[in-house]
Amino acid sequence: MKSTSTFLKMKKEREPIAMMTAYDAPSAKAAAKAGMDIILVGDSVGMVVHGYDSTIPVTLDDMVLHSKAVRRGAPDTFVVTDLPFLTFNGDFGTTLSAVKKLMQQTGTNGVKLEGGGRTLSVIKRLTEAGVPVMGHLGLTPQSVGVLGGYKVQGKTEESANRLVEEAKIIEENGAFALVLECVPRQLAAHISSLLNIPVIGIGAGAETDGQVLVFHDAIGFSDGFSPKFVKQYANIQNDIEVALTDYVNEVKQLTFPGTEHTFTMDENTLEKLYG
Ligand code: KIV
Ligand code: NA
Repeated sequence: MKSTSTFLKMKKEREPIAMMTAYDAPSAKAAAKAGMDIILVGDSVGMVVHGYDSTIPVTLDDMVLHSKAVRRGAPDTFVVTDLPFLTFNGDFGTTLSAVKKLMQQTGTNGVKLEGGGRTLSVIKRLTEAGVPVMGHLGLTPQSVGVLGGYKVQGKTEESANRLVEEAKIIEENGAFALVLECVPRQLAAHISSLLNIPVIGIGAGAETDGQVLVFHDAIGFSDGFSPKFVKQYANIQNDIEVALTDYVNEVKQLTFPGTEHTFTMDENTLEKLYG
């Protein structure tokens, strides 16, 4: 299995890191087969799987359930799990027990925490406790209420400077990687060159040390809005709708099931039973 030192080495050798979310065993298995370097069990699961309109309702138990499924599907891939909304912002004991539960019960390899500010010291304490931590700056969806919507971050001088300072502290505090979401590509390039740890971008341009996308976005498994930074590598939603429509039609027209889908009894038994 790859490790945090693999990712540092990949950055040094300029080998881009490919990361994607997965939330269940079959998608994790597909990601592993594709050669994904890191699987993220993102709290985006709340939006793309559970149908919430933000990540706020996602619970620790949700993350435990999905992380277990991902671990079973991809036993040899480095997996990171998001700490969900308000599980790491209060007393450190609560944070520790959340992380303990996740790591011991699911076998995930590390956790991701959103934000700068007070999250910075939590990152430090967790890494000191032996937990591999990934930071997450820029657009941090758990703070959507404070940010006032899903908007590009770091566009002003003040916010760009703050992001650079927080990124540096995240590295100093022991994180093994940093996700930068929805920031101008020039700022992402600058932060990537400043840090020794890999910077993994989403909506952050091509000059980061790796990329991450949400599984459902990447395979076109949604009929909703798709942000500018998403590239759809397939249109699974359409394929599914076509398949399900075919199924409904065949059931109605009695063309499914065919004989090849059907079990039969041998003639002797049939004779004895029904004459
Ligand atoms: O939850 C998620 O999918 C994420 C990625 C977008 C980085 O945090
Ligand atoms: Na997330």
